[in-house]
Amino acid sequence: RPGAGAWLPATDDIEGLCEAAQSCRGCELWREATQTVFGDGSAPAELMLVGEQPGDREDLAGEPFVGPAGHVLHDALEAAGIRPDSVYTTNAVKHFRFEQRGKRRIHQSPQVAHIRACHPWLEAEVGAVDPRTIVCLGATAARAVLGRTVRIGQERGRMQEAEGRRVMVTAHPSAILRVRDERERASAFDALVADLRAAVA
Ligand code: URA
Ligand code: SF4
Repeated sequence: RPGAGAWLPATDDIEGLCEAAQSCRGCELWREATQTVFGDGSAPAELMLVGEQPGDREDLAGEPFVGPAGHVLHDALEAAGIRPDSVYTTNAVKHFRFEQRGKRRIHQSPQVAHIRACHPWLEAEVGAVDPRTIVCLGATAARAVLGRTVRIGQERGRMQEAEGRRVMVTAHPSAILRVRDERERASAFDALVADLRAAVA
């Protein structure tokens, strides 16, 4: 069966996992991407943030949330009074999925098969980080963590439980960047901040 399971190391510490993930071939996404972008941050941590997949910038840098969405996320964490270095940040899928159009690499959302293939890494990270609360940023993260289709608009901000852990879903920071109207964008940002605050309360 395809998937990252065959690449999982015997060690369960975060450094060992990160190193092993660099050579993962659990699905086809490694072929076009630059590198595996594993999670980053404190382990153990009270709060674990899960995004969708690395974007263009993250693919080049090898670190999650260093591009425009990452700036929004860091601003929101700061506004919520959460030190970014106190959290562990990762993605549901560890390789960038994109479509090449000329010189530009256009983001493509991962498919359910990619989320499933990559899930062993996420599960291992949850084990190593042992967070009190997992915040899912957007529908892909929510699917990866909760194992079902989630409508963010319906479930956001509500504390749930999955496998004995507190789980909250909220908007993806990229969704905030896409809001055209400035005031609507500001209120979408405030809603993310409020969710993050509630997650650590
Ligand atoms: N969007 C994500 O979901 N994750 C990243 O790491 C960057 C952008
Ligand atoms: Fe492995 Fe995940 Fe990358 Fe697929 S996306 S090759 S499962 S690390």
